[in-house]
Amino acid sequence: MSKQIIESHLYNVDLGPRSYDIHIEPGCLSQLGSAMGNIFQSPTRCMIISNITIAPLYLQTVKDSLQQAGWQVSECILPDGERYKTMQSFEQIMDALMQAKLSRNEPVIALGGGVVGDMTGFAASCYRRGIPFIQVPTTVLAQVDSSVGGKTAINHPHGKNMIGAFYQPKLVWIDPLVLNTLEIREVRAGIAEAIKYGLIRDAALFNWMQNNLDSALNLDGHVLSTMIHTSCRHKAEVVMADETEQGMRALLNLGHTFGHAIESMTHYETYLHGEAVAMGTLMAARLSEQLNHAPTGTEDRIRACYQAADLPTSIPSFSADAWLDAMGHDKKNIGSRIRYILLRDIGDAFLAEDVSPDAIRALIASYA
Ligand code: NAD
Ligand code: GLY
Repeated sequence: MSKQIIESHLYNVDLGPRSYDIHIEPGCLSQLGSAMGNIFQSPTRCMIISNITIAPLYLQTVKDSLQQAGWQVSECILPDGERYKTMQSFEQIMDALMQAKLSRNEPVIALGGGVVGDMTGFAASCYRRGIPFIQVPTTVLAQVDSSVGGKTAINHPHGKNMIGAFYQPKLVWIDPLVLNTLEIREVRAGIAEAIKYGLIRDAALFNWMQNNLDSALNLDGHVLSTMIHTSCRHKAEVVMADETEQGMRALLNLGHTFGHAIESMTHYETYLHGEAVAMGTLMAARLSEQLNHAPTGTEDRIRACYQAADLPTSIPSFSADAWLDAMGHDKKNIGSRIRYILLRDIGDAFLAEDVSPDAIRALIASYA
């Protein structure tokens, strides 16, 4: 991907006093310092939180940009991986913040993928009852989804993202050029999240993604840029309509009830989040067909798209009891009911609260 061929985009997530901009521009990583001038009256101290993989690639660029703008920068570098999205890493961030003595108005900057972004946001929401934070997402998944909307969390042995808060960033600063160093498997998993917006609310986007998958996988600048800004627009619209997931925002969890169960039953070791969600989406599509909500062939259409993106489409085998137990810990549940996001068609998702355990047993049996 080269710098010349991608345009820049700006969205405002209008949430009243919690409003913020999403800025998408190739090369903008080195401009973060000047952008901070629009948010903070004068530069003081800040902390960049990143991990051992991303820091050697991009920390210095961000640090230089901030220091040139007058910021005193400290850093906290975490181990890399979903398995470190834990209370221990949260404590590591807290210790670093205490040592750096950041005060209430001094920001933390999340430089990384969804893991770093979610943990940094949660730490920012807790430290001194809340300090500002900036999202600088460096994976496709984080650029199309997790950096926008203020869901922050760490995992607990009982379930993924079980400890967290809604806490909006002050700015989302997206440089698509950083995706050049991302492993292709991570690119694919992130593309699954962009396909998700098409499945939930934009059939034309689903068709466009299908037609442009090869270019996206080859990091074609125009295609990636369109994919990121269309995804951010969808995410921003949904978050503005339902910031704390009282209704519509739950639709963004298409594939997650099953996907989170897959991640937890495989101990977060086998599949990337986007891969698990892709498989979970196939299960949701099959369930939608079995319950006569979606036309026959919906699952096949989605599978063809995932296969073209080389995403895993074979559902791992577990007993129905194991599935139901794993899904019983899903955050979207109210009381003992498990809530599912189903499809009426591609581009038309809805929240189903009346799916019986027998329907899930029949679904699981269909994979035997
Ligand atoms: P990740 O943060 O683990 O990043 C994937 C891998 O890519 C890591 O090894 C990371 O170090 C590396 N990496 C990141 N940027 C890189 C770059 N530019 N070049 C080279 N390597 C790079 O995974 P992810 O897919 O970004 O995020 C998954 C997490 O996001 C999960 O924990 C999930 O729960 C969370 N999530 C949150 C939301 C939300 O709304 N908050 C939405 C979706 C997912
Ligand atoms: N990724 C789901 C949400 O932000 O609501």
